[in-house]
Amino acid sequence: MLQEIKYAVDILQNGELIALPTETVYGLAADATNDEACQKIYALKNRPSNNPLIIHVNSIKMAEEYADFTADARALALDFWPGPLTLVLKARQDAINKIAPSVSKNLDTIAIRCPAHDVTLKIINELGVPVAAPSANPSNYVSPTRLEHVKEHFPNLPFINGGKTQYGIESTILDLSTDEYKLLRPGYIFKETLENKLNKKITAIFKEEEKIIAPGMLKKHYSPRLKIRLNAENLEKNELGLNFANSGFNSNYSRNLSPKGDLFEAAVNLYDMLIELDKVGLANDFKQIAIAPIPNSNIGVAINDKLKRAAS
Ligand code: TXA
Ligand code: MG
Repeated sequence: MLQEIKYAVDILQNGELIALPTETVYGLAADATNDEACQKIYALKNRPSNNPLIIHVNSIKMAEEYADFTADARALALDFWPGPLTLVLKARQDAINKIAPSVSKNLDTIAIRCPAHDVTLKIINELGVPVAAPSANPSNYVSPTRLEHVKEHFPNLPFINGGKTQYGIESTILDLSTDEYKLLRPGYIFKETLENKLNKKITAIFKEEEKIIAPGMLKKHYSPRLKIRLNAENLEKNELGLNFANSGFNSNYSRNLSPKGDLFEAAVNLYDMLIELDKVGLANDFKQIAIAPIPNSNIGVAINDKLKRAAS
């Protein structure tokens, strides 16, 4: 077994936490069957205790041990796993005793995904049970896309270094646990793509005005320490800028999510640049980050959703 895989598995088996890379953002991982370990996640992140965790599996086979894998769940998993799609499914009755109570709280559902990251998949494989892993940031702060982001907040946390994450924003969350399918969080796997695959309408309920189901839908989230101003056309006093395409915020330290106006590139850079601007802005007495308008199509939907929460 590779040295780093054994290292991670030992830590998880000892009931300790470790930062693991995924294709979306870094996760703060614990053995999902060890309640004491999972509780440490809440303590370290200062996470509200009613916000359930996603379990990460290495295969459909492992997922089926814990959730009612419907035909639609299987169809989606076959197409999109490993990858940035989390499925909320009815938990299997015989699994309720296996998964730590602090993972799913008192819900009768469970959120599951299979991350597209080779090392993390091998770790889960070797561990033999799922890992529970929220994003490896203090609750409400921006999610980490680089190991350095994790270390800044949790300097003593063991880790596996996976470099910069591939997608840079969290997985899409689709709730298949009731007759009405619901998109709880937008991401790289789009609602339209899922609808086409299932030949069924999906209700998007991540919009702020709707009822809160996934606490990731909590209005305030993903927030840097500096204030955020959205749809900015120019820079005001004490602001640094986050550009998109040819928006022209030219002050010191301003950055561009994608000079060529590519939304996918913008999504990959979003948290990374927010964290950078937050840090450099604080150090240089800026008060606010002005963000250029981002088109609200394909992955722009997820970007705008994150930005709205960061600004609120
Ligand atoms: O890309 C990702 O999904 C990353 C990486 C680390 O895998 N993880 C992540 O976890 O974003 P976290 O904890 O930051 O977000 C998990 C979301 C929360 O909004 C939570 O409320 C929701 O999943 N969730 C978990 N279990 C749920 C359930 N049974 N029903 C509805 N929502 C659930
Ligand atoms: Mg998070």
